[in-house]
Amino acid sequence: MARKNAFYAQSGGVSAVINASACGVLQTARRHSEEIGKVYAGRNGIIGALTEDLIDTGVESEAAIAALKHTPGAAFGSCRYKLTSIQEHRAQYDRLIEVFHAHDIGFFFYNGGGDSQDTAYKVSLIGAELAYPITCVGIPKTVDNDLPITDCSPGFGSAAKYVSTSIREAAFDVASMSRTSTKVFALEVMGRHAGWTTAACALAAEEEGGAPHILLLPEVTFEEDRFLAKVEEALARHDHCVIAVSEGVKGPDGEFLSASGSRDSFGHAQLGGVAPVITKLITAKLGCRCHWAVADYLQRSARHIASATDVEQAYAVGRAAVEFAIAGRSAVMPAIRRLSDAPYRWDIVDAPLSEVANQEKLLPPNFISADGFGITEAARRYLAPLIVGEAYPPFKDGLPDYVKLRNAPVPKKVAREFTV
Ligand code: F6P
Repeated sequence: MARKNAFYAQSGGVSAVINASACGVLQTARRHSEEIGKVYAGRNGIIGALTEDLIDTGVESEAAIAALKHTPGAAFGSCRYKLTSIQEHRAQYDRLIEVFHAHDIGFFFYNGGGDSQDTAYKVSLIGAELAYPITCVGIPKTVDNDLPITDCSPGFGSAAKYVSTSIREAAFDVASMSRTSTKVFALEVMGRHAGWTTAACALAAEEEGGAPHILLLPEVTFEEDRFLAKVEEALARHDHCVIAVSEGVKGPDGEFLSASGSRDSFGHAQLGGVAPVITKLITAKLGCRCHWAVADYLQRSARHIASATDVEQAYAVGRAAVEFAIAGRSAVMPAIRRLSDAPYRWDIVDAPLSEVANQEKLLPPNFISADGFGITEAARRYLAPLIVGEAYPPFKDGLPDYVKLRNAPVPKKVAREFTV
């Protein structure tokens, strides 16, 4: 069989290690040049395929590809773009086939979270429904850690390490200031509906009852009175209070405590700004001085303090995706399977894209403490190994030395334009 070219793209919110997965894909494809021809990257995810905006990864040096492993962001650009079904928007799929055919693409690798796995799944259907043979493999990624089946999602361990490190450091600060100045510090972290990143902040506690003293998880309804009583309790005990709050916390009315009003193409509300809301409440009701921070993109891009475990897993799922594709396995996603907690041992299995797409894995009830403001030992056992190990990037002149690829465009072959 003649060897086919491959399409690889990055999609959704990026992470500190999505490029480590790209590195895994590209290095493995290069090692299998008898089975896979060129690897074209889509500029800005699936939009690159639809608009025939392809990047020739073949012109990048081995060193540049290797440096992806320690570079945050999405080297080829990402997107939030929803593919509707074949029935609803056939022209979109005809266009994909037109571009894939023109560039002899027989492998499709799509690197992202739940929405992106939906795209990978839909593209996998063009084989059976539109008779264009293509091997489609999704590659997991999301700092939210909400993909089902896989034990964890690459990107999460590094975000978790960043937020738990930051909250531990900030706890030293507020403990120093509390006598005469600030008594409360709140860190807002990501996770639209799932509290994994908020839960990971609890890893910062060095002993039972240590900071952070309160977690506000999106799985638990925010009740003002109970929350304020918990803050008072922490103040009475420690003279300061450290809080980790999820951007996705909702009140008893089911509304986000903070939503900016804007939405992405999947209809997800843009969140951010709940930390100032809760600290304002504390100042108004309890009269104490507060500081707050919104970790926002800092937690998604903090490659300088990445988890070595996470980097290793991100690379491994990229490598496995190519190996699955070469073995003819399509419409699957490499998933991490936990074999043991301590020592943490894992391997990679395949998960059907149809079961991964559009699913959100929330914190299970047995991971949330009885009062709803903390995590259990089971959660700690699950989370602890994911932040283990340091994988510092190289530094130059005191700053991390990251790579910017050439991202050379592939000459267009299709005369027709397509607008997204
Ligand atoms: O990728 C998931 C996520 O990091 C969410 O936790 C967050 O709400 C969202 O992305 C932000 O997305 P965007 O960068 O598109 O605003």
